[in-house]
Amino acid sequence: MKVTAIGAGYVGLVTGACLAEMGNHVVCLDVNPEKIRILNEGGIPIHEPGLEEVVKRNVAAGRLQFTTDVDHAVQHGTLLFVGVGTPPDEDGSADLQYVVAAARSIGRRMTDYKVIVDKSTVPVGTADKVRAAIQEELDKRGIGDTPYAVVSNPEFLKEGAAVEDFMKPDRVIIGSDDEQATLLMRAIYSPFNRTQDRMLVMDVRSAELTKYAANAMLATRISFMNELALLAERVGADIDLVRRGIGSDTRIGYQFLYAGTGYGGSCFPKDVKALVRTAADSGIPLKVLTAVEEANERQKRVLVDKVVERFGADLKGRRFAVWGLAFKPNTDDMREAPSLVVIDELTKRGATVAAYDPVSMAEASRVLGPRDDVSLVERAEAALQGADALLIVTEWKEFRTPDFDAIKSTLKAPVVFDGRNLYDPKLMKTLGIEYRGIGRG
Ligand code: NAD
Ligand code: UDX
Repeated sequence: MKVTAIGAGYVGLVTGACLAEMGNHVVCLDVNPEKIRILNEGGIPIHEPGLEEVVKRNVAAGRLQFTTDVDHAVQHGTLLFVGVGTPPDEDGSADLQYVVAAARSIGRRMTDYKVIVDKSTVPVGTADKVRAAIQEELDKRGIGDTPYAVVSNPEFLKEGAAVEDFMKPDRVIIGSDDEQATLLMRAIYSPFNRTQDRMLVMDVRSAELTKYAANAMLATRISFMNELALLAERVGADIDLVRRGIGSDTRIGYQFLYAGTGYGGSCFPKDVKALVRTAADSGIPLKVLTAVEEANERQKRVLVDKVVERFGADLKGRRFAVWGLAFKPNTDDMREAPSLVVIDELTKRGATVAAYDPVSMAEASRVLGPRDDVSLVERAEAALQGADALLIVTEWKEFRTPDFDAIKSTLKAPVVFDGRNLYDPKLMKTLGIEYRGIGRG
């Protein structure tokens, strides 16, 4: 089939590459010429395991192209997947300017039947706005009766496992009220649906709400565990044992129960805010979700609260090693990363920071810019030099069993604040390392 992916970011690029892998002919369009240049020169603008191989293979096979040429991109696909950004507005609601701009650019050019697929995470009612924008443009051209359908097909991939998630989805949600569009969507997803039927076809509004509901539920689990971790610490319990204890109940399950430094990334924070906003605007305030967000804001500061408890509020003259800058492992994405809050809270109290991340050093230097109080170092051990303590913010594999002797001998005094509960507190004690995790009373 002929497919266009509009927006070559995490969602658009992965969708385009994975659909090409199944034999479709895919054009990926982006308004960012730099991104398209990198892709056309054989590079990948993001760190995403497995993506480079899929992209290279399909470019070589002539099934995957990258362009900034909107005319070509819109003409090419029968299915146009829109995966542009929906960042938060000042009031927390999703900013739909890129989605609507993409819809208009389609309406200005399409000449035959198209299925416009909303893959971006968008509030209930957005498909209607997309339809209105396209219709207005078609009407302006005097071809208002051109047939098309707008479908909601939210994406559930996780960064760091995006290709794997796209290739083996738990479910594919198709919100559609157009029979031909539904059949085309079923066809394009059929290769991902072979072992069991994972397709759920529903009305557009339910599909739009499903995406927010999923992210909000996962964020709720995390904030619940983070609050419980504070309690565990106070009453002398270990949140990791509690996690195992409740996760073994099949009704609860083990996933997304890890207490830590708060959820970050480009989805949970903005999607929770947007759903809270939609609910408030609809006169149905979501009190649980409001608390989820508040708990997360507090949680991003918990690690530094522990530093202050140990070293005092004035951190002038202190230096801290920070391991992990990406919002989670296996990505270089630093959007809403807890590390940014940790660095900000430490430096605003006068401390300096030496930070290391296995893949997001370039992104960190772009995001943080040049500054005297933060140095980005090339190796984990280098961050320890002259530092008063080590803070672990992201649970990269290479931090799981580090050289504890080196930590002990390089830090000024062996103090570790572990925001991801990577180590056994008893082992740390026997090694003579002062160790503070999250919720390990
Ligand atoms: P991103 O910022 O990585 O990519 C968006 C891309 O769209 C950018 O490259 C931008 O230049 C491009 N763009 C903007 N306007 C355009 C236009 N009119 N035409 C062509 N290209 C245009 O964003 P992302 O992380 O891929 O997220 C995209 C959407 O998918 C968001 O709504 C997000 O909530 C949702 N989502 C993201 C993830 C994730 O893990 N990142 C997962 C599921 C859903
Ligand atoms: C999320 C959703 O999982 C995905 O389905 C959706 O499509 C996009 O948003 P992503 O943001 O890539 O994916 O990462 P995810 O693995 O969900 O982690 C989000 C944040 O929650 C990270 O900061 C992570 O560290 C944190 N987290 C996750 C926890 O603190 N504890 C957990 O148990 C799990």
